[in-house]
Amino acid sequence: ASHNPYALRGTLIDCDAVAGTAVGNETLRVIEDGALIIEGGRVTARGPAADVLTGDRAHLPVHDYSGRWLLPGFIDSHIHYPQTDIIASFGSQLLEWLERYTFPAEASFADPDVARETADFFLQELFRNGTTSANVLGTVHAHSADAIFEAARRQGMRLIAGKVMMDRNCPEAIQDTPESGYRDSRELLERWHGVDRLRYAITPRFAPTSSDEQLRRTAELAREFPDAYLHTHLAENRNEVAWVSELFPWARSYMDVYDQYGLVRERSVFAHCIYLDDADRRRMADTGAAIAFSPTSNTFLGSGLLEYRDARATGIRVGLATDVGGGSSFSMFRTASEAYKVSCLNGTPLSAASLLHLATRGSAEALDIADRVGSLDADKEADIIVVDPAATPLTARRTAPATLEESLFALLMLGDDRHIETTYVGGRIVHERN
Ligand code: GUN
Ligand code: ZN
Repeated sequence: ASHNPYALRGTLIDCDAVAGTAVGNETLRVIEDGALIIEGGRVTARGPAADVLTGDRAHLPVHDYSGRWLLPGFIDSHIHYPQTDIIASFGSQLLEWLERYTFPAEASFADPDVARETADFFLQELFRNGTTSANVLGTVHAHSADAIFEAARRQGMRLIAGKVMMDRNCPEAIQDTPESGYRDSRELLERWHGVDRLRYAITPRFAPTSSDEQLRRTAELAREFPDAYLHTHLAENRNEVAWVSELFPWARSYMDVYDQYGLVRERSVFAHCIYLDDADRRRMADTGAAIAFSPTSNTFLGSGLLEYRDARATGIRVGLATDVGGGSSFSMFRTASEAYKVSCLNGTPLSAASLLHLATRGSAEALDIADRVGSLDADKEADIIVVDPAATPLTARRTAPATLEESLFALLMLGDDRHIETTYVGGRIVHERN
């Protein structure tokens, strides 16, 4: 049925392309009474309903969402599916949080049934929140990557994922070795990368949990598969940064550790990047590496505030990320709201256009999938969400009298899963509220 053409009608809202430019270049594109034609899982036409729903198309079935907003699905540029069950754990910063909550939770993924059950729940939770694509970390277990890829494939979802590699400074039960990490990652990459809408990310957890030998094997794999992703964490927490300078005394900076191993390149995605200097930023911009901005994680774990404006001014592509379970919400509304607060603490409040861009097209650009998703342009894959800006008494009251841009900003601050009415993935409904 999803192959028969149909139309969606509502207020179309998305953002212009801005890759490599400074903050402030984002603009909203709004069509108040708009329509999209969906055919074979793609958008084939977009415009005012009065123009689009004419001629042969006048007879197509229409899903009428008048009064609601049609947005590109949100794209989460960094999230851990095995941390679903430790979201919102009390009281510690990164290194202690890993020991106390994260490593035990990830150890339970030794059981493939736990991985499969969690993967299904996790994807439904993404869809409930309007997230249609994500860059996902598994655990050290190869079957954790199989489980999330299998689940995403069943849903027809565009998803990037990888098994974590870590061979030191973590419990033995969840360590791999340079050889097994390389071999398992390579097998997974060959099994999943480019299958349907799936892509593989080579995923060393972060510099402290990989030996020199593991980082060298990781770089070897990254060189052999230049179109695969490299996904890790960078410069998140002050104690972590100090530890990295002890572990890698020869490096100029934390970023330089990855760079010296040859891991800073196009399709390299680094979560956090709070503690960078100008040389780090310049190098990341020059190589085409990207940052996953994870504001609820950075405040929840007391990590610090990303200098988002400096990153963008240097020309680095930046996506928005929940970083669940360090992050405290699956909702990209909540995450955008936290990004706004961080931007205010840094002295440059982000506009509705900048925030929506971060959550959609910016993440797509950071993940090198902007040719497929992230906007409502004709030819894009039909990952679309229906947003009801008046889903709660307060948001109804706040948005009714306001301009569209004011309403969008208010909803980015106040919204949550209650405002996601319907989620389409590849033109197929994967979530409907009620
Ligand atoms: N650094 C290394 N591992 C992790 C993780 O699981 N979460 C976060 N937020 N940072 C990390
Ligand atoms: Zn993370």
